[in-house]
Amino acid sequence: MGWVNRRRDLGGLVFIDLRDRAGIVQVVFNPEYSHEAHTRASALRNEYVIAVKGKVAERPEGTENRELKTGTIEIQAKELIILSESNPIPFPIDEEGEAAETLRLKYRYLDLRRPKMQRNIILRDRAARTVRNYFHQQGFLEIETPFLTKSTPEGARDYLVPSRVNPGQFYALPQSPQLFKQLLMISGYDRYFQIVKCFRDEDLRADRQPEFTQIDIEMSFIDREDIYATMEGLMKAVFKNTLGIELTPPFPRITYDEAMARYGADNPDVRFGLEMTDISPILKKTEFKAFADVLQRGGIIKAIQVNKDLSRKDLDNLHEFARGLGAKGLSWVRVNPEGWPNVSGPLAKFLSEGEKAGLGKSMNPAPGNILLFMGDSAKVVNDVLGRVRLQLGRQLNLIPPGVFKFVWVTDFPLLEYDEAGKKWSAKHHPFTSPLDEDLPLLSTDPGRARAKAYDLVLNGSEVGGGSLRIYRREVQSQFFQTLGIGPEEAKEKFGFLLEALEFGAPPHGGIAFGFDRLVMILCGAESIREVIAFPKTQKATDLMTEAPSSVDSRQLAELSLRVMIPK
Ligand code: AMO
Repeated sequence: MGWVNRRRDLGGLVFIDLRDRAGIVQVVFNPEYSHEAHTRASALRNEYVIAVKGKVAERPEGTENRELKTGTIEIQAKELIILSESNPIPFPIDEEGEAAETLRLKYRYLDLRRPKMQRNIILRDRAARTVRNYFHQQGFLEIETPFLTKSTPEGARDYLVPSRVNPGQFYALPQSPQLFKQLLMISGYDRYFQIVKCFRDEDLRADRQPEFTQIDIEMSFIDREDIYATMEGLMKAVFKNTLGIELTPPFPRITYDEAMARYGADNPDVRFGLEMTDISPILKKTEFKAFADVLQRGGIIKAIQVNKDLSRKDLDNLHEFARGLGAKGLSWVRVNPEGWPNVSGPLAKFLSEGEKAGLGKSMNPAPGNILLFMGDSAKVVNDVLGRVRLQLGRQLNLIPPGVFKFVWVTDFPLLEYDEAGKKWSAKHHPFTSPLDEDLPLLSTDPGRARAKAYDLVLNGSEVGGGSLRIYRREVQSQFFQTLGIGPEEAKEKFGFLLEALEFGAPPHGGIAFGFDRLVMILCGAESIREVIAFPKTQKATDLMTEAPSSVDSRQLAELSLRVMIPK
C-alpha cells in the first residue's frame, strides 16, 4: 500500500512507482497477470493511495534500475484497489527541486511527503531517540515542566495566555524551563533532562522560531568539566547515530575574550582561518585621519590577512557589504610581487616604515596577499569585520564541505550594559554564577566580572548555552542588586526561587541545546523550518492552519478581554 509516485502508461503495460516512507517500489500492471487490475491502473494519477496484491519478482535482465534500492525487483500486480484519490498536486512530490516556500507551508502535509523532508524528519527522530537513550544510560530522569506558568527570564518577549478563571490575569508560556529545572535540583532529582518546547516572541530569522525545541539539562554536584564531558558524549552519540560520524572529543575551548579578539564573534566559525589581528597599537601614531580619529575616540583597528588575491571588483563589493552593515568603510593594501613591505592600494601611502615593519612582524603577509583594515568602535569592528570574514570564507570556498567543528566558548562576561535602559543586564540570565575570583567585582567593576557560563558552537552556530548557577541566597540577592532589581521586585518575580534557595540548595548547573538548530546542521539545511514538521513563517504565522486568527466576541468576553488595535 502507498502513494502513486509516478505512472507510466505504455498501453500494453502500466508501470507505477509506489511510494511510502520506506521508499519506492515498481509495480507492473500487465493484462497477462490480471486484466482487471491492468484496466483499473489506467485511472491512476499521482498521489492516489492504492493497495496492490501481486508477486515480487526479479526484473527482466537489462531493466534493473541501479539508482533505486529496490531497482532489481518489481511487483507483478494481480489485484488493485484504489483507497483514495487525489486532486492534482500544487508542486511535484518526487523532485528535489524547490517549490516556493509559501506554497510548501500552505500544503505542509504534501511537502512532508517529499523525500528530502522525510529524510530530515526521520533524522530528527533518530537524534531525539539518541538523546533519550544517552541520558537514560547516564542515569538522568526525563521530567516535564509546565507550559502555563510565570514569565521566565531569557530576555525575549513572552507569549501570554489569559486565564478565564482568574480574570485579568495571564500565564506566560515558558521561554525555557530554567527556573523549574533549578527547582528540580533543589528537590534532589540531581540529573534532569527534557526535550521540550520553548516559546519566545522575538524577531525571527532563519535559525529562530517563536516555538522551538530545546534539549534541556540540569545536574547537581558538578563542575564545568562534568558538563563539558557529558555534553561531548551526547554530541558523539548523536553524530554517530545520525550521520555515522565519529567525533573525537574533547572539543577545543576558547574564552569569550579570545573569540571576540580573533573572530569578532562569540559564535566563531572555526572551520577556516582569516583570523583578525588588533593592530591598534601598531597604528597608534597613524597619519590616516579616519583611523587616528577612531583611536582618539577609544575605538580599535583590526586587520584580516587574505592569503589570496582579490580583484578590484571583489574589494569594492566587500567595501559596500561592510558599509551596508554599518561600518564607515573597509580599507586595504595589496602586497606587491617584490614582497612586504612593498604594498599598493588606498592605505599604502599612509603607512610609515615603522608601521609596515610592525604589520609585517605580526601578520607576515606574502606577495599577492591582501590586508583588509577596519577602524571603528570595538562593537562595530567586531560585528562587521566578523561578517566580512564569514562572507570571504564562503566566497573563497574556504569552508570544507562535510566538516563539523565544535568549540566551547567559555568565561562569558556576567553582565552587559544596556545603553537604552542605562543599566546592567545579565548576559546569560540572572541565575548564572560569577567566577569565584570575580565575585568582588560585582560591587566594584561589574563589567569586568566573568561568569561560569559556556556556549557550544558548531560550525559558527550557537547550538547550546548554559552555566553553573548561583545556589547561595546572598549571592543571588547581590546579583539582583547589581542588575537594579530591588528586593520587592525580586520577590514578586522570583520569590519562589529565592525562598527555595533557603531550603538546602545543592550546587548545580546545566545547559540547553537548540534541538532544531542542531538537527538543521546535521541535515545540512539552511533554515530550521526545514527540520520542523509544522513551522511558522518569519512573521510567526502558520500558513496552513492560518494561525493566529481572530476569535469571536463570546470567547473574548469569557476571558474578560477586549481587543484594541491601535490605528
Ligand atoms: P539560551 O537562551 O541560550 O539558554 O537557549 C539555548 C539554545 O536554544 C537555542 N535557541 C533557539 N532556537 C530556535 N529558535 C529560537 N528562537 C531560539 N532561541 C534559542 C539556541 C540556544 O543556544 N535556560 C537557558 C539554558 C541554561 O542556562 O541551561 C537557555 O534557554 O541554540
